[in-house]
Formats: sequence, structure tokens, C-alpha cells
Amino acid sequence: MKFFIDTANLSQIKEAEALGILDGVTTNPSLMAKEGITGEKNIKNHYKEICKIVTGHVSAEVIATDYEGMIREGKELAALDPLIVVKVPMTKEGIKAIKYFTKQGIKTNCTLVFSVGQALLAAKAGATYVSPFLGRLDDVATDGLNLIAEIRLVYDNYNYQTQILAASIRHTMHIVDCAKIGADVITAPLSAMEGLFNHPLTDLGLKKFLEDYNKLNS
Ligand code: E4P
Repeated sequence: MKFFIDTANLSQIKEAEALGILDGVTTNPSLMAKEGITGEKNIKNHYKEICKIVTGHVSAEVIATDYEGMIREGKELAALDPLIVVKVPMTKEGIKAIKYFTKQGIKTNCTLVFSVGQALLAAKAGATYVSPFLGRLDDVATDGLNLIAEIRLVYDNYNYQTQILAASIRHTMHIVDCAKIGADVITAPLSAMEGLFNHPLTDLGLKKFLEDYNKLNS
């Protein structure tokens, strides 16, 4: 399973990259705004900076909601760096744009997916990634992990090559559960990934090993 970090924060991307377990980055307009990155030129430069840090795919989202606008923006984003994946919202115009990008050999990430039907459309349009938002479903008392499992089933039924990118991950257990289900990718905040390191028995065990070593070697 690939690990993407869900942020536009350069320090956190560098920190995750340094761990040696990072496969890519996802961003969205809210995450860019959180970092105070505004204006088309600054946003594009920021994507270029992110691409210098990592070696995997970097999702960059279009702002336009009409077909022509998405195509224009998507082409510009894709031209920034070979690592860029054009993130397109799950709408009729978005699916048409994904189909266009697929034909042009431009990689896409279909975002804001909340149902199996939407994921089916993304696969049929040839999206590279589909992003079901599991945390936002959990937030409205709907089982987000179940959506990931259902999309896995449907994609396997037809051998769709679109990769399931489990998004809107809220905590470490979501990552583990996505791995059990067979998501191709998770995108998560650094804190959720770091939670995977932790176990009290590891800490206790290491403490004891060092104590025993020091008894005879000090
Ligand atoms: C996915 O690509 C989105 O950027 C992200 O995972 C949304 O997460 P949120 O629901 O925590 O905002």
C-alpha cells in the first residue's frame, strides 16, 4: 500500500520523506490556503517546490468547475512537473475532463467521491486514482471504511486499474483498516502515519535491552 501525505506544508512533507516511507503527496485548495499560499503563480510555484522534495505523484487540484476551464488548468498543472497528477472533482464536467486527460496520457485523481457509483464512473473514465473521503463519511455517521471495501469489490470484479486512494483519513487505525481492505493508497496527515510507530511493548522492550546491556558493559 502506498503512503501519500495529505498536506501542502513543506516541512511536514520533508519530514515524511526523510522517514523513507513516503510515496506521494495530495493537496487541495483548503490545504493550500491553510499554508497561506494564494494566487495562481504562488500556488504553481508551491507545487514545483513539493515536486522537488518527493519522487512520487503529487496531486494538484483544478479550481475551475466547467469542462473547458478544467482542461486548461489541468494542462497547465500537468506541465509543471512530470510528478503532477491533476485532481478533478467528481462531477459530470469532471468525469468528461478525466476522460479527456486519460486520452492525452495525463494522470488524474478523481476527488470528492462518496459513493460506489461515483467510483465506478471514475474508473470508466480512466482515472489514475479515485479518492473516496472516508473520514467525512464517518463525520456524518456513515461507515467510510465500508465504502472503501465496496469500491475494492467492484473494481476487482472488473479488473479496473484505477487505484483506490483512501482519503480524509482521520487517525492511525483508518490506515490499518484500509490496508486490511486492500486500498492501493492512503493519504493521511503526518500525525496519523506516525501513530503506526507506537507500541508500549516496543518502548519497554528497548528500555530493558539497554538496561541489560549497560549492566555488563558499563
Ligand atoms: C484528499 O485528497 C483530501 O485532500 C483530503 O484527504 C480531505 O481530508 P479532510 O476530510 O480531512 O479535509
